[in-house]
Amino acid sequence: MIKQAIIPLAGLGTRLLPLTSVFPKELLPINGKPGIEYIIDECIEAGIKEIIFIISKKKIMIKNYFYNDKFYKNIIKKKNDPRIIFEYKKILKYRKMIKFVYQDKPLGTGDAILKTKKFIKDKFFLMLLPDDLIIKKNCSKSMIAVHKKYKCSVMASMSVDKKTVSRWGIYKINNKIDNDNFIIDGVIEKPNQKQAPSNKAVIGRYILPKIIFNKLSSLKPGIGGEIHVTDAIQSLIYNDEKFIGHNFIGKYLDCGSMHGYINSSLEIIKK
Ligand code: UTP
Repeated sequence: MIKQAIIPLAGLGTRLLPLTSVFPKELLPINGKPGIEYIIDECIEAGIKEIIFIISKKKIMIKNYFYNDKFYKNIIKKKNDPRIIFEYKKILKYRKMIKFVYQDKPLGTGDAILKTKKFIKDKFFLMLLPDDLIIKKNCSKSMIAVHKKYKCSVMASMSVDKKTVSRWGIYKINNKIDNDNFIIDGVIEKPNQKQAPSNKAVIGRYILPKIIFNKLSSLKPGIGGEIHVTDAIQSLIYNDEKFIGHNFIGKYLDCGSMHGYINSSLEIIKK
């Protein structure tokens, strides 16, 4: 079973400036609820027991959000408002599951993952990128079911317009298992249209093997000067590690870009 999840939160969020100049994007409200709470709820519903947040000193507000007891206790004493009591209890429930680790410099998702190395207990763990919201159907839960069946790594995937492949990690299909699951032959980060081996993009949900840490520790910076998880995955596939691309059913919302962020609340209201 997959019991641990990790969530990289140490990026700068430059695409959402000026909203992110002092405020972490993961706490920005999406239809009245901080984006990160959707991600935690997805984990809980998928059976995850522990979540490791990778933050930075600049994003300490994320930790403070879960440790503001004095404030809540004072307000509850004064107002005894059931809604506030409910919200505080929810925060306490979340906090019990969360561990914080730090990435001092945003050197890339691969480097962020490496910071969790000594905390990962089992052979496989889940990673969620919080910018990628998937609503209507729990993507992590479906991926865990695929992992249980095939006992291997799994990445969430989605078909994208060929013209947009340079925005994503794109994978090459080796074999089709069924309409929703594909054995992956390789993955390339942000290829141009000519380089792209397919139009199947990797979306921010991964079930990764613990051995990925060996690859990450020796990885050189890739495209954009960052250490990408995709490059470590490519290297694992090269060494015959089995990866499945899972075409998820839910609706994908890109909350990391301004247009996507604004649109996400509108899409959730439609639900
Ligand atoms: P992104 O590259 O999409 O987000 O990383 P970003 O860097 O925060 O935002 P932009 O591109 O400047 O607008 C995907 C996820 O990985 C985390 C980010 O916080 C985001 O949740 N991340 C990224 C890290 O934790 N560390 C890094 O070094 C880079």
